[in-house]
Amino acid sequence: MRILGIETSCDETAAAVVINGRTVCSNVVYTQIAKHRPYGGVVPEIACRAHLENLSEIIEEALGAAETTWHDIDAIAVTRGPGLASSLLIGIATAKGLSLSTGKPLLGVNHLEGHVYSVFLGEHAPRPEDVCPLVLLLATGGHTSLVLMRGLGDYEVLASTCDDAAGEALDKGAKLLGLGYPGGPEIERAAEGGNPKAIDFPRGFKGQKNELRFSFSGLKTSLRYYFEKHPDTPLPDLAASYQEAVIDALSQQLERALTLHSEAKAFACVGGVAKNKRLRARLDNLSDKTGLPLLLTEMQYCTDNAAMIAGAAGARKHPPAPLSLDATPNLGFALDLPLTP
Ligand code: KG4
Ligand code: ZN
Repeated sequence: MRILGIETSCDETAAAVVINGRTVCSNVVYTQIAKHRPYGGVVPEIACRAHLENLSEIIEEALGAAETTWHDIDAIAVTRGPGLASSLLIGIATAKGLSLSTGKPLLGVNHLEGHVYSVFLGEHAPRPEDVCPLVLLLATGGHTSLVLMRGLGDYEVLASTCDDAAGEALDKGAKLLGLGYPGGPEIERAAEGGNPKAIDFPRGFKGQKNELRFSFSGLKTSLRYYFEKHPDTPLPDLAASYQEAVIDALSQQLERALTLHSEAKAFACVGGVAKNKRLRARLDNLSDKTGLPLLLTEMQYCTDNAAMIAGAAGARKHPPAPLSLDATPNLGFALDLPLTP
């Protein structure tokens, strides 16, 4: 099963060709970051125009790099949500047009399931049947959740953020500190050489031992107040302490989830924030502490890409979508995930 994947949910225009949900033949990502940077965040109108201008070329490039013709493609998978409505629509309309003109089935994929699936991409990645049940930390710019994955398409959301996502906290924190967009990598860079213990920022939700939840909006507010009061604090210390608070909150809740779900055979971290080297190191420590294997998404599949969309579609054998397939900007995690493939 050779699938062409298309991803346009936010500010990355991406296309990829993946065989049997595993072998990535090509993975082309055009990032629009430079276009949005002057505004300090994603501007939906600019994002959707850039998708429109670039998507056809990106698709041709993905097919070319995979040495694949339309004849070899078995299906066209596209992100149907969540994401920016106008951006999603460019990908969906393009995928529909291609499906109509080539006669290949159209598959609608949940972007969040794509992120989950990113950990199974690549020849050396584990197979779901060998590592499930698996506790997954999904940390992106728009979502932060803990998910118990019992198998392909069988997910239970254990906890979500009650306000900002982890990536959003880093993006907003970076903005407050006068750093660029996206904030995660900017804060990571600024934190180099800084003391993560310099400032004791709040660690979000503590709760009871059996409660799982994330909260990051208070952290952002405390950074604002601290920075206003102590404008001379060295930037590396501010950035390192802020980043540490986000990482602590993520790893604490993950550890709690592993204690509560002792059936887990392994744990994983996916999404753009999983690119963070300090987070990856902390999760390594958690793996040593719990004795459970840690699965980390390859760096190239952490942030938005289409390989994860084609991969999820190919692995779970999504039923074909009708041509009436619409964008679902607020598509939830569990909403769209039937328990059987
Ligand atoms: O998964 P993703 O590409 O898009 C969404 O689906 O949201 O994640 C983007 C998020 C942004 O908030 C960005 O700041 C964060 O991932 N991010 C990072 C790093 N690289 C990207 N956060 C921490 N450290 C990084 N190196
Ligand atoms: Zn994403």
